Amino acid sequence: MLDKIIHFLKSSDGYISGEEISEALNISRAGIWKHIQELRAAGYDIVAVPHLGYQLVSSPDKLFPHEIKCHLHTKVMGKKIFYFDAVNSTMDEAFRLGMEGLEEGTVVCAESQSKGRGRLGRSWTSPKGKGIYMSVILRPRLSPAGVSQLTLLAAVAVAEAIQKISGVAAQIKWPNDLLVHNKKLVGILTEMNAETDRVKFIVVGIGINVNASASQLPPHATSLKNETLQNFSRVELVQEILRIFEHWYLRFQGEGFAPVITRWKELSLTLGKHIRISDPHQTIEGKAIDIDADGGLLIRSDTGIVIKKMSGDVVQIT
Ligand code: BTN
Repeated sequence: MLDKIIHFLKSSDGYISGEEISEALNISRAGIWKHIQELRAAGYDIVAVPHLGYQLVSSPDKLFPHEIKCHLHTKVMGKKIFYFDAVNSTMDEAFRLGMEGLEEGTVVCAESQSKGRGRLGRSWTSPKGKGIYMSVILRPRLSPAGVSQLTLLAAVAVAEAIQKISGVAAQIKWPNDLLVHNKKLVGILTEMNAETDRVKFIVVGIGINVNASASQLPPHATSLKNETLQNFSRVELVQEILRIFEHWYLRFQGEGFAPVITRWKELSLTLGKHIRISDPHQTIEGKAIDIDADGGLLIRSDTGIVIKKMSGDVVQIT
């Protein structure tokens, strides 16, 4: 009910009468008043004027599901949203929901994480209310080998959404870190539940440093605030990510991976650069020359051999 009242308040330009809301939602005016009090307690600034009605002055800076869903207009992404004030990791919650059979597009978001995690065993610093920490469940018809494609797709979608909302042109460091001025703005982590030849579901975790100050972040990281000296609405950014992610996901299902690779290359920081790539088994130096159809990185080593890597940590040398 609270989400419906918020939707009403957001959709009206000026005041909306208690009578109008009460008729539309079929609850008493006393009931409306009770819900307005609840919304105020949650941080909404709502004025009530006799004979005129209610007007929403401002909303709290919280990733409440009803805020994200309001005017979202997606078909798949964000149809169900689970919200936590504090959580160990949104990956764990999304994985649990995936095991329970929740449909694709289900989103888990949190204001803070105590055990936010990244690729290669790293942690993800998650200061409360300052970033976006979200995980999305997908159920693509893919073999486990194809999952890297969706990781690259997510990086494209998040880069486009950030550019649209903030004007910041982040570039993608293979496979899926978004960097600005060589500092990390976004990390993406994909985990899956699969059989040998079939993915049951995957969870795409997205961490974005939005309104955090430099002192709240690791030294190699930056935030949108740090780059622009402005604060951004995390709700608007999540909404844009869900819309653009859906656009690319549906396109991927219809046209395959080729359009994603083309766009990924336009946004790439890595291709054409001399890099060092390390994993627990080896370190290679060479030129990053291309991305192949699986999303693997092709490197021409200093000895002239072309090597394909599906994972690893890239450091740019020149
Ligand atoms: C990386 O840079 O290696 C990936 C970082 C991914 C961080 C996000 S924050 C939301 C989700 N929950 C986590 O614990 N990790 C991902």
